[in-house]
Amino acid sequence: MALALLASAAADKLYVASLCQQFGLALTDKASGWHLAWQDDALVLRNTDLPKQGDILVDFASGAASYRRLHGGGKNEAIAKACGLNKKRDLSILDATAGLGRDAFVLASLGAQVVMVERNPLVAALLFDGLRRAAASTELNWLNQRMQLLHSSALEALQHQPAVDVVYLDPMFPAREKTALVKKEMRAFHDVVGTDADADVLLAPAMQLASKRVVVKRPGYAGFLAAQPPTMSVTGKNNRFDVYINAAI
Ligand SMILES: C[S@@+](CC[C@H](N)C(=O)[O-])C[C@H]1O[C@@H](n2cnc3c(N)ncnc32)[C@H](O)[C@@H]1O
Repeated sequence: MALALLASAAADKLYVASLCQQFGLALTDKASGWHLAWQDDALVLRNTDLPKQGDILVDFASGAASYRRLHGGGKNEAIAKACGLNKKRDLSILDATAGLGRDAFVLASLGAQVVMVERNPLVAALLFDGLRRAAASTELNWLNQRMQLLHSSALEALQHQPAVDVVYLDPMFPAREKTALVKKEMRAFHDVVGTDADADVLLAPAMQLASKRVVVKRPGYAGFLAAQPPTMSVTGKNNRFDVYINAAI
C-alpha cells in the first residue's frame, strides 16, 4: 500500500515534512485509495474511492472519548480491572498494539503511564497527530505526560523497552461490533492493517517484560492468544480481557 500524504495549502509545511520523515510517507498532490490527508488542522485517514467511508482520525478530545473519560465506569471498567488500575493508579503500561489509542487513552486517563507501540506507519502518524492536538488542548494538558508513542513492531519493543508493570495486547481480530462508527473504523483497519497473523508470538516476550501481568483483549467468542489459558478473564460489554499474572499488584 502506498504511504501517501496529501498536503493541503493550509498544512504547516515543516510539520508535514517531519511526519513524512518519521513515518516514511511520500508527499503527494493527488491520491487514490487509502492515504493520509490534511483536514481542519488534523491528519486524517481517507479513501477517495470510498466516499461514504468518511475520515478517520485520532481525537482524544472527541465527544465519545471525553464522555467515556468523564462518565465511563472509571476504575470499575473491565479494562481497568483487568490491568489492575482498580488496585493501583500509577501503573506503567506498554500497549504493544495501540491502534487508534482508545484503550491507551482510557488507561492513561485512569492514571497509568502508557507507552503506545504501533507498527503501521499510517496509524502511527494518526496517533502522533492526535497527541499533538491534545497537547494544545487545555482540557487534555495532562495527556502528553502520560502517553508516549513508539513507532515500532511490538516484538522489537517487547525485547528492548525497559520493564513495565503491565503489557496490554489487542491484536486485530474479525469483529462483530455494531455501531456505525466502529464498523467504519473496522473496515479501514482491515484494509490498511490487515490481520495480525503474528499475534501469538507476542505473548511469551510480553510475559518476560511485564513485572505484574499481561492483559489480552479478545472478542468474547475468540480463543485464547497462543492457545494459552489465562490466570483469569474479566468480561466486558463487548470484549473479554484475558489476564496472565506474573506477580500481585
Ligand atoms: C485492534 S487494533 C488496536 C486497537 C486499540 N486497542 C484501540 O483502542 O484503538 C490493533 C493495532 O495493533 C497494531 N499491531 C498489530 N500487531 C502489531 C505488532 N506486532 N506490532 C505493532 N503494532 C501491531 C495494528 O497495526 C493495529 O493498529
